[in-house]
Amino acid sequence: MSAPKPIAAGNWKMNGLKASAVEARSLVEKVSQQGSGDAEVLICPPFTLLGLFADIFGGTGVTLGAQDCHANASGAHTGDISAEMIKDTGADYVIVGHSERRADHGESDAVVKAKAEAAYRAGLKAIICVGETEGERDSDKTIDVVCGQLDGSIPDDATAETTVIAYEPVWAIGTGKTPTADDVKEVHAAIRDNLVKRFGAAGEGMRLLYGGSVKPSNAEELMSVANVNGALVGGASLKADDFDGIINAYR
Ligand code: PGA
Repeated sequence: MSAPKPIAAGNWKMNGLKASAVEARSLVEKVSQQGSGDAEVLICPPFTLLGLFADIFGGTGVTLGAQDCHANASGAHTGDISAEMIKDTGADYVIVGHSERRADHGESDAVVKAKAEAAYRAGLKAIICVGETEGERDSDKTIDVVCGQLDGSIPDDATAETTVIAYEPVWAIGTGKTPTADDVKEVHAAIRDNLVKRFGAAGEGMRLLYGGSVKPSNAEELMSVANVNGALVGGASLKADDFDGIINAYR
């Protein structure tokens, strides 16, 4: 099987106003002028910017995604957004199970799985996030924790087309700290093994992103690790220049 097409994904988290369209347009320009190598470029802005960014990205080399969804398609869930609503904006992806959602909103693996199922139902691809805390790493539980999250969070009907996994060590998010390339290699190999055992060939084809303090200066090293098929980038995705420096790893 050919290697999965990598993704350079930006997660804007709770950042961005309409004025941030300047960055979105700048990114489109850079990608249209210099291409993105063999990588797919994806930006996941807050819900409030999905419509605006759908207009900016439409017909360009940049894809749109959201950061979370409710498990239900519609109904009495004040303040929530469904996968169908996200699809309706023109987005193709949704992130589910980010550690900030798991921590801030108490989302369990079962909740994350229901959200991934909602994504499939609406025709979105799900980026399912997993990752250990610092305490779990220090007590050598990383592989157990990550595999437990995979088992509990990925729906049984996941395929290579519908599902992307993001390994994001919680302690590396927004801290400037990253695991060594060898540590990333070990965890990504364990994730691949888990996916192949459960999903066979589909598990071979699922893209595995690394996330946590990815920057232009470390992207090339991290993206060249075996079984790393792209990056999920927070802070360094907000500025088109920085994100473009990460895309450079694929040019
Ligand atoms: P960071 O965030 O790049 O700012 O560390 C990554 C993420 O949480 O997706």
